[in-house]
Amino acid sequence: MAFKHAVIEKNSILLLVLTLLVVSVGGLVEIAPLFYLESTIEKVKGMRPYSPLELVGRNIYIREGCYNCHSQMVRPLRDEQERYGHYSLAAESMYDHPFQWGSKRTGPDLARVGGRYSDDWHVAHMNDPRSVVPESIMPGYPFLAETTLDVRFIADHLRANRGVGVPYSDEMIEAAEADLLAQVTPDTDAADALLERYPGAKVANFDGNPELTELDAMIAYLQMLGTLVDFETYEPEANYR
Ligand code: HEC
Repeated sequence: MAFKHAVIEKNSILLLVLTLLVVSVGGLVEIAPLFYLESTIEKVKGMRPYSPLELVGRNIYIREGCYNCHSQMVRPLRDEQERYGHYSLAAESMYDHPFQWGSKRTGPDLARVGGRYSDDWHVAHMNDPRSVVPESIMPGYPFLAETTLDVRFIADHLRANRGVGVPYSDEMIEAAEADLLAQVTPDTDAADALLERYPGAKVANFDGNPELTELDAMIAYLQMLGTLVDFETYEPEANYR
């Protein structure tokens, strides 16, 4: 056997051909099954499409380039989990088009920032980060609080997301504008209807100002991040079927 192997070792062309053969078998075994799987994302309870207000907030997050300084992916490393919480699941960004994992952390990861601070804290922080974190180098975004939210195209936003696979129903698209307004008017029938469609959505007057502004949408989005999956009950094994 060892003697026969010497033949291969002495003939570089034969070695190359056989190496390619071995590597391509390995590649086929690893890659081919992926084409026959419907999805490589495990299903996780709690994940739902973003509410219209959260979706608009997300659009503003992208428009303002927040991803240049913030990632949205907790890696499965001990120091990250101690700081941010449970590592991110693939399912948690399944409705993100485009995803916001980011590659730069000038500021902290935001994947689990939802519920960590009050709405008032976010209002102060967005207007002037140094008013709450004196050493912050984050720029202020005071204009968000002064810019009326443009809600005209919200149904189209939902429809566009549906086009790339987010399961928005006809009912959700029809109610998009009503749901958007309902999320800033707590304790109304409209808010109940919104919660039925988007369980766990936070309903509040986020910026504390009666007018609907871009800051309302931004805070609604931030307060939702990382809150959809309940990690008290999440069991990875239960998802392998
Ligand atoms: C130039 C880099 C930079 C940009 C751009 C930036 N941030 Fe930050 N951000 C930071 C830094 C640094 C911190 C940490 C200090 C602080 O809390 O202000 C931070 C903190 C935060 C926090 C608090 C996170 C925590 O866990 O304490 C939130 C929320 C946040 N940023 C949201 C945003 C949003 C939304 C945008 C876009 C509108 C944005 N940031 C744009 C640098 C940035």
